[in-house]
Amino acid sequence: MKHEWSSRVTFVLAAVGSAVGLGNIWKFPYITGEYGGGVFILAYLFCICLIGLPIMLAEIALGRRGKQSPVNTMLQLSQEAGASTAWSILGWSGMAAGCLILSYYSVIAGEVMAYSFRASSGVFNHQTVDGIKGIFTSLVSDPEKLLAWHTIFMALTVLAVARGVKGGIEKTVTFLMPALFALLIFLVFYGMTSGGFEQAIDFMFTPDADKFFYARSELGDYLMDAEGEKVFTWKPMMVAMGHAFFTLSLGMGAIMMYGSYLNRHVSIGQMALVIVSLDTIVALLAGLAIFPLVFANGLNPAAGPGLIFETLPLAFGNMAGGTFIGTLFFVLLFFAALSSAISLIEPTVVWLIESKGLRRIKAAVWTGVGIWFVGLATIFSMAGTTIGDITENLVSWIGFSDTELKTGFFKYNLFQVIDFFTASIMLPIGGLLIALFAGWVMHQDSTEREFSFRSRYIYLVWQVMVRYVSPVLVFMVFLNIIGIFRF
Ligand code: PHE
Repeated sequence: MKHEWSSRVTFVLAAVGSAVGLGNIWKFPYITGEYGGGVFILAYLFCICLIGLPIMLAEIALGRRGKQSPVNTMLQLSQEAGASTAWSILGWSGMAAGCLILSYYSVIAGEVMAYSFRASSGVFNHQTVDGIKGIFTSLVSDPEKLLAWHTIFMALTVLAVARGVKGGIEKTVTFLMPALFALLIFLVFYGMTSGGFEQAIDFMFTPDADKFFYARSELGDYLMDAEGEKVFTWKPMMVAMGHAFFTLSLGMGAIMMYGSYLNRHVSIGQMALVIVSLDTIVALLAGLAIFPLVFANGLNPAAGPGLIFETLPLAFGNMAGGTFIGTLFFVLLFFAALSSAISLIEPTVVWLIESKGLRRIKAAVWTGVGIWFVGLATIFSMAGTTIGDITENLVSWIGFSDTELKTGFFKYNLFQVIDFFTASIMLPIGGLLIALFAGWVMHQDSTEREFSFRSRYIYLVWQVMVRYVSPVLVFMVFLNIIGIFRF
């Protein structure tokens, strides 16, 4: 017999636990910084409402109806609807995306763990901007350290998943999520006193379309083409859309998996609304906590993945009780990351249990070991190894020694490639397929019965969204994919 969540509150907590994580607190601020603020946030909010919310409803409904891992749920639902079983590809690509995402997620979560210890030892106290930067650089340029933390985080994820979703997540999430929320609000208040708050609000909420639509160099100046015109790019739009999927855990089966443990009598619409709102609020709070510090200290908002590690410790180092508050913050962020990591790996683990007859613990260990290996790619990326460096090495190994590969594709590192490929390509395609399946393939009365909305009106709105609006939007962004190859 499949287990179910103890109550609908637990489902919301688990789904919020999956949704709220490094995506909100680590990733959202740094991509917002990288793509110029205002318009990026607008694009992201637009995607959350028009793509994220309807697909969230669809994914929960599919999961609850199928009651299995995404691969088997899709097999069953496609048979039920008399459609091709090829739809199960959705489950497969979801498992691949989940494992790839977790491979780097775990490395970053490892950095968060390292920072919990750093905060508690008081090394941030009265540090300067450069001192804090140095602490981060010394961590990421030490592969052994990153490897150790990555290993510990993967081990903890495997342990939590092996105990089963209920034992593993329910307790963690019930207390820690609200605590993280409260702490973020506190940090926003702190940001208000830092002197950079106005600039932060300006940066986050004043649209500047140029920064969003025109390509810029690492230093922040616009790239020019041969005619002296700014170079147009769709990449920020893809990243914004991809992040809407990433932050809501959509498009790879995590929410479908959690939906499968959901009791028949719960209103999916309300649940989805709560999950989406909380996730969005947390992301905006994280931005409001971090950007005031960025501007008050003259830091670069486009600093990249190190942004939170280079800003928040400055605040902790200079506030009364900062050692305690800083430690608490990173510990809570670690738990938020853990509850997301569990949902990234769960679809694969359950599939191994259902289809290969493995015991839960064995399934969790093997999946964890595989992901651990892939994580090595991110560890080397953090220390600055680019694809160009790797290729140069391979090339010199076969005898050509002075190849220089520093431009175009070669200037990226494997972390950037895995991140872009999963979040901006795999998740939106997964989401597109989920929308099309729920909107066009499943029988209307099955979806209508799953939702049992109070008014038929709401159902019709949802249907228009998953049939037309979300797919067309995702598709439009992809039609411009050619744009992204103009580096
Ligand atoms: N939503 C999580 C976050 O924002 C990441 C995640 C993505 C989790 C996809 C599960 C599936 O941190």
